[in-house]
This record gives sequence, C-alpha cells and structure tokens, in this order.
Amino acid sequence: MAPLKIGARTLPHGLLLAPMAGVSDASFRLLCRRAGAEYTVSEMVSAKALCFEQRARASVPVRTAPLADISKEEAPMAIQLFGSESDFMREAAILLETGEYRGAKREAAPAAIDINMGCPVHKVVSNNEGSALMRDPDRAAAIVRAVKDAVKLPVTVKIRAGWDESSKNAPEFAKRMEAAGADLITVHGRTRQQFYAPFSDNRVIAAVKRAVKIPVVGNGDLFSAEDVRRMREETACDGVMIARGAMGNPFLFSEIVAMDEGTPYTPPTDKERIDTALFHAADMVKRKGERTGLAEARKHMLWYCKGLRGASAAREALTHARSLDEFRAVLYALIGMK
Ligand SMILES: Cc1cc2nc3c(=O)[nH]c(=O)nc-3n(C[C@H](O)[C@H](O)[C@H](O)COP(=O)(O)O)c2cc1C
Repeated sequence: MAPLKIGARTLPHGLLLAPMAGVSDASFRLLCRRAGAEYTVSEMVSAKALCFEQRARASVPVRTAPLADISKEEAPMAIQLFGSESDFMREAAILLETGEYRGAKREAAPAAIDINMGCPVHKVVSNNEGSALMRDPDRAAAIVRAVKDAVKLPVTVKIRAGWDESSKNAPEFAKRMEAAGADLITVHGRTRQQFYAPFSDNRVIAAVKRAVKIPVVGNGDLFSAEDVRRMREETACDGVMIARGAMGNPFLFSEIVAMDEGTPYTPPTDKERIDTALFHAADMVKRKGERTGLAEARKHMLWYCKGLRGASAAREALTHARSLDEFRAVLYALIGMK
C-alpha cells in the first residue's frame, strides 16, 4: 500500500490512533505510538472553552488547555477541535498553532488541526456541534474555510456516514469539505443515529474515497489486522484509524505493522500484557496524580484483562484497589504471579 501523506508528513503504514475522549490521553497515546501507531489525535477539545479560558483571570485554573498538551514521544499528534461557530474555531486554531495560550505545555507543534464532525453525543449535537454539522454542510464548510485560512497547519475533518439512514451524505459532504480546504477526511462508517451499533459500513468509506482527491482515512470496527486488510481492500482508503480495537490492546498496531512487513507477529504473553497494563496505570498516575490517575486507569485495566481466565473476579477486586501496588497484586494474581 502507498504511504499516507498528511501535509508534509508521510506515514508509511497509514496507521492512526483515533481520538477518544476519556480514553486516548497522553499515556494511551504513548503506548500506541510505541506499539506502531504512526500518528495520534488528541481527545476532543472545545474551541469555545479554549477561547474562554484565555479571557478568564490568571487565577482561574485551566481545564481545557491540558487536553492539547503534546509530548515529544506521542507526536506527531493532531489536536481535535469541536464547535459550531467559525469565529471560535478560527481563534482556537490560531491559539493551537502559535502555542501562545494559557497553560500550553508542548514539546512538539501539532501535526494538524482536526475538526470533529462525528461526535454523536446529545450534549454536543444539541449545540450544532460534532455530527450535527453533517446536517448543515454550509456551516461545516464555513468552519473548515475559516480554520484553513487562519493557520498553516493541515486541516483535517472527521465525519460519519451521515446523520441517519435516510441521510447518508458522506460522499457529497466530503466533497464540500475538500472544496472548503480540508486536507484529509476520516470517515467512520456509521451514521449518528447508529452511535456505535453494529456494523460500520465500509461501502460508505469507499464512496467517499471515490468522491474526493484528498487522502481518506477509514475508521470503524477495526479489531484485528485482518479487519484492516479487509477495509483497505474494500475501500481503497489511504490510511486506517483505530479506536476501540486498541483499548487494552495497543499491541494491535504491532500486529498490523507485522502484517504489512510480512514478518511473523508474536502476540504478547499474559505477563507482557499485564506489565503493559501496569505501566499504563503508573504513567497515568505520574501525569494525573494518584487519585485521578487510579480512578481513570481502572477501566483500562479491565480492558487489558479481557479474555484472561478469572477476569470477572479481577474486575470486582479492581474496583476496591486503591493504589498501584493493589492494582499489581490483583493483576498478578490473575496470571498466577506474586
Ligand atoms: C470512548 C470513546 C470516545 C470517543 N471520543 C471521540 C472524540 O473525542 N472525537 C472523535 O472524533 N471521535 C471520538 N470517538 C469515536 C472514535 O474516534 C471512532 O470514530 C469510533 O469509535 C469508531 O471507531 P472504532 O470502531 O475503531 O471504535 C470516541 C469513541 C469512543 C469509544
């Protein structure tokens, strides 16, 4: 397969980690990068909240800016913005490009500004944000144009198949975004109404690929290297983006790289899986502090345990674990280690 180009950057395998609010934080992005993901995207960042944070008194703590932090090891990383107003989207994109905003912490510049046009959550769509933009192509195009005119960074757009079964407008919509200046489109082959219900439809991704000249990244239901092979074959997409398939399984990226390079893939042993989980938890604690880090790490631990014998008992024990040592005791007991 041909490498994926995003602006001046080339990704030989076209392997991207998807944005996942509450999941794909710096620790997770780091692990996926180490496993072979070539590009990451931040959790979604509210353009309006980032702009308002700048206008607040210096004593008001920043809450949104940290979502856009970039460490050297997780780069190249795009920052994803959501919003429905061109002015805020433009202003936020400029802040992110210059890095001149309150609370900015970055060891690398963003690889791109990604615009969220896929989020199905009620709170978001009721503000005309996320996938609601697919029902309003004029507004969506105006946002892309405003951001594109304001920054030199590549501007990418992440969409769904459409709003609902009767309005699967992804191909025409993608063309509009291309005309408005988008440099790349990611397509999740489900409608907004489907949320995450089975199944993501590769035919929509193929139709978008036929409709535009800019690179198209396919997304939806990639849980194995075989799923990736099939999506590439069925859609001719230029890259693939993985979300839930990497939860508790960043190793999936290594499996795909091995498939592409024709080298044998050895899945992690149970011990390697659990040690990765514990590294993940420790890194979250390091970055977020013990209380928040442990609370947020718990769900990741459960995902790593999936499929291991005794996982449901470990699930119960993990809800009571209050320290990294207790996490370790539970997870090691699961694989018969002390
Ligand atoms: C917990 C969770 C959080 C997500 N957050 C975002 C987000 O912030 N921005 C976004 O564009 N998509 C978000 N998504 C959607 C994913 O990026 C992806 O499009 C979707 O899960 C389909 O891919 P998959 O089948 O590989 O999971 C999220 C998905 C999940 C499961």
